[in-house]
Formats: sequence, structure tokens, C-alpha cells
Amino acid sequence: MRPPTTQEISALFQRTYGHAPTVIARAPGRVEFIGNHTDYNGGAVLGAAIDRYVWVAAAPNPAGRFRLFSASGPSVLELPADPGTRITGSGSWANYPLGVWRSLKDFNLPQPAGFDLLVVSDLPSGAGLSSSAALELATALALLALVGGTLEAGRLAALGRHAENKYVGVPCGILDQGTSAHGRAGQLVHIDCRGPVFSRVPFPASAPLWIFNTREKHALIDGLYATRHRECLDAAQALGVALLADLTPAQLASREKKLTPVLAKRARHIVEENARVHDTADALQRGDLAMVGRLLTASHRSSQHLFENSTPALDALVNLLEPHPAVLGARLTGGGFGGAVMALTRDIFTEQDAVEIARRYAAPPARPPEVIHLQSADGATVLWRG
Ligand code: GLA
Repeated sequence: MRPPTTQEISALFQRTYGHAPTVIARAPGRVEFIGNHTDYNGGAVLGAAIDRYVWVAAAPNPAGRFRLFSASGPSVLELPADPGTRITGSGSWANYPLGVWRSLKDFNLPQPAGFDLLVVSDLPSGAGLSSSAALELATALALLALVGGTLEAGRLAALGRHAENKYVGVPCGILDQGTSAHGRAGQLVHIDCRGPVFSRVPFPASAPLWIFNTREKHALIDGLYATRHRECLDAAQALGVALLADLTPAQLASREKKLTPVLAKRARHIVEENARVHDTADALQRGDLAMVGRLLTASHRSSQHLFENSTPALDALVNLLEPHPAVLGARLTGGGFGGAVMALTRDIFTEQDAVEIARRYAAPPARPPEVIHLQSADGATVLWRG
């Protein structure tokens, strides 16, 4: 899909609501480059903001009502003055923008009294590319612009995460919102999640990222993510630390006997993955992409065998990608339990190579994975004001 222009978004807004928008904001999706489930364990992650986005156009609603429309949905949702209750069913996506609106108050920021809102996206949802964080951040920037406000990237990320934790009910960490807020073309976002402290690491344009989206259901909201979160906290408690990232691999090895076999596997994944994030950042600084690739594939194997958040489909894709001479490394990206595999390749890897891997994974009539070629991109921003 060609990205929509601001004129096209304005025209759709005009057709939907009968008047022009006053602001258009845009936030990128993200690829979890490495750091699987380390964020809520106080560890480090590396993420790439990507050139697939959510755009939010907005205008005040003079009657103080809340109207929301997604370009991929059937009809406008119209809500009364205090949209207090959680929406269920096909309109449940509106809990994200409404959660952001409510979070403005929690952050002592001004709220528009009502709004008309349009969402347009070229980010596949359910692929583990964080369409929800992009929606939160673009909404926050658009709603704040309606009341003359703005927010710096760190607070913007915190507000998006707060909306997701408190009003959508997903206990996510800061990876998705932090990467979407701080992204920069040609760089990866490094987050030390305990602060959180944000920095950037160079990422060569000659190292393309490929996504193979299995289209399997990404079950974050269904509780598997929450179960892993719980297991990590239980393991930390049994080990006598606040968060698993407090431990080095050597410290964990000496205390592992205190854990049940399942909790020991979860803890090893987090502690070793955290070390891999640091090693990856160092390797990127040195320009050692072969080492980066090996660390990515090691991360996948750890998800597969220790954290058990991979699936046979994701493993099959990694198994096909790993031996390819132009592939440096491959791993599941995001929460897991479905979603997508990310591959880091040499620049000689072509669309044809990607399609061939997809065909070997599932030849028609079976459904091959969706192949998406991505570039790193800039973070969330207000694109246009009327
Ligand atoms: C999801 C969450 C993130 C992070 C990843 C796993 O994307 O939203 O906060 O925990 O899973 O690393």
C-alpha cells in the first residue's frame, strides 16, 4: 500500500465528518530488534521505528461528543460526553484512543472536551509491529495539538504505555511506545527500561530488515503475555531480587536451584537475553553485523526453548532463513505466540529471495507469510496543522 498523503487524509476526514481536521499526527510501528520480554524485567532492548505508520487526524467536536472512525472499519463510532465504559466487540479498538484521552488527565495535561478522530494505517495489525503503540502516540499528539499542547518523546512514550496498561489492560513494558516515540532513520533505539533511559545506536542502511508475518493470531490480550509477566515476577521474588535484570548470567546460575524448572527457564531467557542486547549494541557500534546476526538467532532459540513464546510456524521460518547465505540472523519479534519473524540480511538479499523463502514455508494453496521490507524511520510527530 502506498502511504496516504495528508491531502488524502484530510479529504477522507472531510467526507466522514463534514468538516476539515485541524491536525494530523503520525507515529511509526516498531520492530523489536532484540530484547525479548526484557523491558518489564528492568532490562535493555533495541528497537527500530519503521516506515509503516498510523496517522490520526482530529478536530474539536463543538457538541462535546466523541466520534471515532477507522479507515479500515465499517462506520463511525459515536460516544456520549463521558466515554467512561470499556467498549467491547468490533469497536473495541476505540479503547486505545479513549484510553489516551483519559490518560491526558492522569498526566495533568489538558484534554479536549470532545473530538472527531480519524485513524488511517498502513501497519498490519497482529503482526507484532505495534500498531497499538503507534495509535496511542499519534492520538496523544493529535489530541494535545487540539488544546495547544505538546509533549516530549519520553513523556509521550510514558503516556502511551500508561493508556495501554491502565485502560486497555495489557501489562506491556516501554519497548513499543519508547521506540515509536524516539525512532530515528538510520538508528536503533536503545532503552534501558529501568529509567527508562533512551539512547540511539547506529544501524547501517546497508542492513535491510525483512518481516515474515505468519498472520497467526497474536494473543497478547488473551493472557499468555500476562502469564509470562507473572512467571518472571515470581522468579525474581524466589531469587530475592526486585527484577530479573538485576542478575548477571553467572549470578543466576548460582541461584537457579531456588526455582522450579519452568521458572528457571523463564529467568535464564531474560537474564541471557539482557546480556545479548548489550552485546548487540556493542557489535553494532563496531559494525560487526555477522555477530549481530548470530545474537539475533540465539535470541530466537532462547524464545523457542526457554521462554516458550515461539510457535511451530515461527520456528519453521527461522529454520528456513538461518542457512540462507545472505541472511545474517532471524528471530521472532514482539510478544510472540504468533506474529512475525524478523530477518537481518546482507544487502544482496532480494525480494525474490524473500518470496522464495515464503513459498518454501507454505506453497499455495496454503497461505504463505506476508513479506514486508522495512527501513528504519523517524519517531512520532505532528505532520500537519490546519
Ligand atoms: C510486546 C509488549 C512489549 C514487550 C514485547 C516483548 O510487544 O508490548 O512491551 O514486552 O512484547 O519483548
